[in-house]
Amino acid sequence: MPLLIGVPREIAAGEKRVATVPEVVEKLIKLGFKVAVESGAGDAANFSDDSYRAAGAEIIEGAAKLWAASDIVFKVSVPTTEEVGLLREGGHLIGFIWPAQNPELMQQLAAKKATVLAIDALPRMLSRAQKMDALTSQAGVAGYRAVIEAANVFGRFFNGQITAAGKVPPAKVFIAGAGVAGLAAIGTAAGLGAVVRANDTRAEVADQVKSLGGEFVKVEFEEEGGGGGGYAKVMSEGFQQAQREMYAKQAKEVDIIITTALIPGKPAPKLITSEMVQSMKPGSVIVDMAAERGGNCELTEPGQVVVKHGVTIVGYTDLNSRLAKQSSTLYATNLFRLSEELCKTKDGIINVNMEDDAIRGLTVIKDGAVTWPAPAPKLPAAPAKAAAKPAQAPAHGHGGGGAPASAGKTAAIFGVAAVLFLLVGAYAPAAFLGHFTVFVLACFIGYMVVWNVTPALHTPLMSVTNAISSIIAIGALVQIAPPLNFMESMDRPDGWIRWLAVFGIALTSVNMFGGFAVTRRMLSMFRK
Ligand code: NAI
Repeated sequence: MPLLIGVPREIAAGEKRVATVPEVVEKLIKLGFKVAVESGAGDAANFSDDSYRAAGAEIIEGAAKLWAASDIVFKVSVPTTEEVGLLREGGHLIGFIWPAQNPELMQQLAAKKATVLAIDALPRMLSRAQKMDALTSQAGVAGYRAVIEAANVFGRFFNGQITAAGKVPPAKVFIAGAGVAGLAAIGTAAGLGAVVRANDTRAEVADQVKSLGGEFVKVEFEEEGGGGGGYAKVMSEGFQQAQREMYAKQAKEVDIIITTALIPGKPAPKLITSEMVQSMKPGSVIVDMAAERGGNCELTEPGQVVVKHGVTIVGYTDLNSRLAKQSSTLYATNLFRLSEELCKTKDGIINVNMEDDAIRGLTVIKDGAVTWPAPAPKLPAAPAKAAAKPAQAPAHGHGGGGAPASAGKTAAIFGVAAVLFLLVGAYAPAAFLGHFTVFVLACFIGYMVVWNVTPALHTPLMSVTNAISSIIAIGALVQIAPPLNFMESMDRPDGWIRWLAVFGIALTSVNMFGGFAVTRRMLSMFRK
């Protein structure tokens, strides 16, 4: 029996998003599911009941009926106690849960014998999980909206203009924190024509800032800010002092500051002090995206727009709901991608496969048993940092280099390989030896290149190498090319070899064109 996915109306104050949209309903139905939507669930995001009905969903009046009918509930914001009460015993729930912050909710859900997939618990470092990453999709929308909010209260153009009435300088925007939201804000502000600067404690984002049209402003203090998995760590007092001085200088120069700095599990770092606000030009704007976590600016009031020392400080915590249609569409697509992973058989039945790293990470409760936090997923080895302390080395990963126990094993493997090579060198024919040497060198170079690439870049790397490696097509073409003269035709390969070559070309074409197509799609994600 295909399962029924139910989408209730969000009841949290100010929440305008909805967990699925009509265009995604059609895709869920193609996966074999039945879909029911609570009447009015999409109203705030401009999706009418009729549009859901047209896409094939059933519209159910009232939350109680919807929850009771649903095998799987798709939600956006953290469920309330009343909502948990409506969840069917042994039912499935997918949405934002934040298990660390909501231990009571976890207990209530476990008591319901539910299976709960927390979209916020997705292991983001798995490149395979990117399509399901709702934190990223939502932060991207929020970063865009933060710039729009700033433009709304800022009294000037963003771009510089030369008009008959005079010259208008471009607005200067400073972005604190270049994570997902920060990068989206940089791209948006640069697109509007502003001069954009940005800072982050993780030096590796400097290139991304530049590629989006921003200038990376460094803190003059040597300290690496990466805390692993693309997240930041708390910096030393010396760094913080140097960073405060740099921010104080920027505050005096720029017109708009957008703050997005966040360290997971910690209150937002206070980066913009009251004095810095005071030093800004009158009419300047601060949008504090971290308002919900206490704010990056000392004077932020969460959820409010306040004017302090002539500077407008926007502390909205509902930026996604302020762009509800876009946020909902991306969120719904994330949940659809997750549904595809859960229902590989396309028959509307799900398999919560705890062997799958991505699904394991998301599953915080399985049939009433709390399974959060998940063990760290097995990742392909990332390039080891020279300064990394042995104690911080990840427990998983293929590389495993550095552990004393594995040193003997590596030496043994090298020893066996050396003996094998010696035997090949002594007995193999000369022609074979030449090809073999090229083959071994190619394997070595390939290994060194791939192993030094960040795991997140493996997909684009593999797609382009697939395309290039299809050089094999040339060899096959030589086999089937018509002979140039009679003598040569004597050397032509047999019929079956030529058919094998044709088959080889067909296969390698898939690799080649597929590789380029995937690379093109990935590159177009970064183009305007
Ligand atoms: P993220 O984790 O991708 O990015 C945060 C960035 O801040 C990281 O690059 C980190 O290195 C950097 N950072 C940390 N400490 C820093 C410091 N002292 N100085 C400079 N940079 C520092 O997070 P994401 O997804 O970009 O979200 C950013 C913020 O936006 C979060 O606070 C999040 O809660 C908030 N947010 C707010 C929304 C709203 O409606 N107001 C909606 C969505 C997200």
